[in-house]
Amino acid sequence: MSGEAKLSAPALTQPAPGEGPPAHVAIIMDGNGRWAAKRGLPRFEGHRRGVEAIRRAVRTANELGIRYLTVYSFSSENWRRPAQEVSDLMGLLKRFVRHDLADLHAANVRVRIIGERTSLAPDIRVLLDEAEGLTKANTGLNLVIAFNYGGRQEIVRAMRALAEKVRAGTLDPATIDLDTVEAELDTTGIPDPDLVIRTSGEQRVSNFLTWQTAYSEFVFLPDFWPDFDDRTFRSAIEEYARRDRRFGGLSARVV
Ligand code: IPE
Ligand code: IPE
Ligand code: MG
Repeated sequence: MSGEAKLSAPALTQPAPGEGPPAHVAIIMDGNGRWAAKRGLPRFEGHRRGVEAIRRAVRTANELGIRYLTVYSFSSENWRRPAQEVSDLMGLLKRFVRHDLADLHAANVRVRIIGERTSLAPDIRVLLDEAEGLTKANTGLNLVIAFNYGGRQEIVRAMRALAEKVRAGTLDPATIDLDTVEAELDTTGIPDPDLVIRTSGEQRVSNFLTWQTAYSEFVFLPDFWPDFDDRTFRSAIEEYARRDRRFGGLSARVV
């Protein structure tokens, strides 16, 4: 297929309403701070309880037969928070990898990290590499951790990589199509999210998976992330199952 044909008719996953669970669920885990504030606790306590909610979400995703679970753990913009909170969040990621990696590996989970890695502290980079390396041959749930991730920043990095190839003479700009761009994204090889869940009642994207969510369904839940459990997860999946995905075409449902 030529580049131009791909631009005008993107290859999208075929909608399969009611046919099993979404293959890829991506979660904007929001509301840790408000969960804590409501209880008179420090924000850190909300983040700590948020990690437990991630463990529950991984279990439920496994049970539901979801293939990919992406969790938004730290955004490119979260550096704007007070230094102490940033440091707490870095600490929690380290603790999560150190404490949970063996269990995830034993459960056949494959871990992938998306986001900008070069500017992270060396000890964090080592841990992230270790998590990916250890689990790379696993065939169960794919757990994608978006850390120091921003959708726009990811697209800029991809554009830069393409520009370098053009400069090196290995890429003809006329052949750039959707696949060429996708191959440079952090998520290369991962199907686009079918469903994006955001907790805490906020209804915005906050720079999450900008390219990949072009045709995702969104479910916004009022619950704060530390309260997210099996029941809320399943309710979001049920809501998703009622959606009629058309991808710009016509309904595949009999109406
Ligand atoms: C989500 O909870 C966790 C991160 C963004 C790292 P918040 O920390 O954003 O909690 P709220 O939105 O302030 O309640
Ligand atoms: C989005 O939540 C980022 C993560 C969940 C990691 P934020 O709390 O940072 O988003 P805004 O600032 O409310 O848009
Ligand atoms: Mg928030």
